[in-house]
Amino acid sequence: MAVARLAASSPPIAQTAMTIAPTFRLRICLLPLAAALALCAPCAFAAPATLKASGKWTALARGHAPLPPMGWSSWNAFLTDLSEKRVLASTQAMINSGLAKAGYVYVNIDDGWWAGRDPATGRMVVNTARFPSAALAGGGNSFKPFADHIKALGLKPGIYTDVGYNSCSQQANSPEDIARVPQGTLAQKSIGLGGNVGRDIALYMGEWGFDYIKVDACGLAAFGPESRPVKERGYRAFTPLIDPVSPLRTDIAAVRNAYEEVGQALAKTRPANDFAFSVCVWGDADVRSWGQHVGNMIRTSSDIAPWWGRMLHTFDSASHRALYARPGSWNDPDMLFVGHGEFDEHHLTEARTHFSLWAIINAPLIIGQDLSRAPQALLDIYGNTDIIALNQDNAGNAGVIAYDSDDLQILVKQLADPSKKGVVIVNRSGSELTADLNAGHLKFDPAAPVALRNLWTKQVSGFTGATQFRLKAHESLTFEAQGVRELADGLYLSEMPGRIHVAQDGITAPQADPTIYRSINVWAGTQNGGERPQYTGWGGAQADTNPYDGALQINGKGYRSGIGILAGSRMEVKNDGQFTQFSAEVGVDDGTRNSRDQVVFEVYGDGRLLAKSAPLRWGQDARPLKANVGAVKVIELIARQAGAQGGAGNLVVTWGKAALTAAR
Ligand code: GLA
Repeated sequence: MAVARLAASSPPIAQTAMTIAPTFRLRICLLPLAAALALCAPCAFAAPATLKASGKWTALARGHAPLPPMGWSSWNAFLTDLSEKRVLASTQAMINSGLAKAGYVYVNIDDGWWAGRDPATGRMVVNTARFPSAALAGGGNSFKPFADHIKALGLKPGIYTDVGYNSCSQQANSPEDIARVPQGTLAQKSIGLGGNVGRDIALYMGEWGFDYIKVDACGLAAFGPESRPVKERGYRAFTPLIDPVSPLRTDIAAVRNAYEEVGQALAKTRPANDFAFSVCVWGDADVRSWGQHVGNMIRTSSDIAPWWGRMLHTFDSASHRALYARPGSWNDPDMLFVGHGEFDEHHLTEARTHFSLWAIINAPLIIGQDLSRAPQALLDIYGNTDIIALNQDNAGNAGVIAYDSDDLQILVKQLADPSKKGVVIVNRSGSELTADLNAGHLKFDPAAPVALRNLWTKQVSGFTGATQFRLKAHESLTFEAQGVRELADGLYLSEMPGRIHVAQDGITAPQADPTIYRSINVWAGTQNGGERPQYTGWGGAQADTNPYDGALQINGKGYRSGIGILAGSRMEVKNDGQFTQFSAEVGVDDGTRNSRDQVVFEVYGDGRLLAKSAPLRWGQDARPLKANVGAVKVIELIARQAGAQGGAGNLVVTWGKAALTAAR
C-alpha cells in the first residue's frame, strides 16, 4: 500500500502526508491482471450520484478565470534551462511589443526553478544561480522579490509544482536534466507538494505572492518502486496512482482528492479568490470529467510538441468538449508552441492556424517562446487583437464543431452580440481542399445575407445561403460572421456552452475518446505500439452531436441543433431571468447503445419542477417539452433513466432544438 509504506519510511518532513488515499479499488487492482480485471470491473467507478435538482448554479466558484487566462510560460521556450534573466527578457519583450497591453498578463515559471527543500526546515528553496534575486541580502531565500518585480510591471507571476513528491523533470533521463534537478537527501529532493500541500501553497501563493499555479502530476505517475528515477537516482518510491493506458488501474478518486486538497489550500491561502489553478494531469485519471469541478484550467492531453500532428492531437483532446468549458474553468490543450519547429516564422500558415484554433475553443493563450528573440511576424500573430477578442469574448462560449472530418473542420463560436459568430475553417490535411460554408453551419437564416470579416487579412466579404473557399494545406480562415439568426428571438443551448454546467453527465464507466488525432507521442517516440485512444471522457455531453459523436436523431428525425447526453444526467443552465421560454423536442437518440430502457426528461426552474415528459424509449417519436422560465435564475435539465431492463447506463438521449427564447 502506497500510503502505508510512505508513512513508515518517511522522514519527518513527510509525516503530514497529503491525503492521497488509495482506495480499496487500487488495492485489488494491484492483484495479478486476471484477478484484478475480475474484481475491479464491478467496483471500479463510483455509482452515479442520485439525480436531484440543486436549485442553484453549482459550477466551480474557486479561483479566478472569468475568461481564458493569457500570458507567457518558460516551459516551451527554455524547458529546465530557465533563468531570471531569460524570463525577464521575455517579460520585457511582452511589454515593449504591446502584448501585455493586449491582454497577456501571466508570467509563469514552469519546472526547474528549485534548489530543493531546506533540510532543516523543509521550506522550499529557490535556485539562486538561476534566480539571483531570490538570494536575500540578509542571507535568506525567497521568490518574493521576483514576484514583486513582475507585479510592479503590471503583470501577474505564476509558479509550478507537482501534486506528488517529485516533479516531471526529476523523471527525465538526459544528463542535462539530471544535472539541473535538485541534489541532496531524499527530503531535499522531494520538491513536490506531497506531504507539504498547506505549507507550500501558503509559501508560493501567500508569502511569495504568486497569482497562478500549475500543478503537474508526474509525482503520482512516474516514481514507482521499479522506476529508473527511484532505482538509479534514489527518489522516494511512490506506487503510481495513474496508469496512462488504463483508467481501471488508475485511482481516479485519489488523484482527484489530491488536486482537491490543493484547491482547498489555495482557497485558504487566498480567500479573496484571486488566483488561477491549472490542473495538469494530461487528460489522464478521467480528469476530462472531474477537472471542471476542481481547477480553472484543465489539461486535456499529454504534452504538445512543435509539429503539426501533435498540435492536432492536443487540440482534438479539447475541441470536442465545448460543454466542459465555461467562465471559471477552461479546457487546456497545452501551451502555445508558436515560434518553434513547424510553427516558427518559416511556417506562418501553421502558426496562424495553431493560434486561431486555440482562440476559438477558448483555450488559455499561454505563449511558449523566447519573446526577446521573436520575429515581428510572430509578435503580430500573438498581438492580433481580433483573434484575441475572439478568444476573450465576454460570453465565454467555447467554439462548437459545426462540420467535422479528419481533413477539414468548421468551428463556430457564438459571441456576446447575438448576431455575431466567430468562425474557423481549418484544413487539417496536407493537400489543398475546398470548403463549403453555409448559413446552416452558423445557425443563420439561409435567406438573409451574411457578412464576413477575415480576422487575419481584415477583408470584408459576404454571401447568402452558401459560399466556398479553397484552402491550402494546413491553412485556416478565421472570420467574424454577422447575420440574421435562424432562431430569431433566442439561442439554442448548443450555442451557449458558457451558460451550461454539466453537473452530471451520466457516464458510469470511463471510456477512452477515439476522436483524437493519434500523433506520435512526444516522450515515447515510436518505440511502443502507438498511442491508442487513452483519454477518458467519451460519452460526455455534446453540443449538436450525440455523446458518441453521432448526428442527433430521434426516431429518424435529425436535429442540427441540440444537446446529446446520456440518461442519468443533470445540466444547469444560467438563465438569470434573461429568457422567458425553454423549449425542446426530446427522446432517445438513434445512436443509443441501450435500446430497451426508458427515459424521463424533467425541466426545473430554481429547483421547482416545471415540465416533465412521459417515459420514452428508443423508437418513439420526439416529444415537445416547454417551460416558462421568465423569473428563473437557474434552469436544470434532468434526463432520468426509468427502469433498467437493458442494464444501467448507455441510454443516449437528445434534447433536440433545446433553446431559450423570448430574450428580454
Ligand atoms: C509535464 C507537463 C509540461 C511541463 C513539464 C515540466 O510534461 O505536461 O507542460 O510542465 O512537465 O517538466
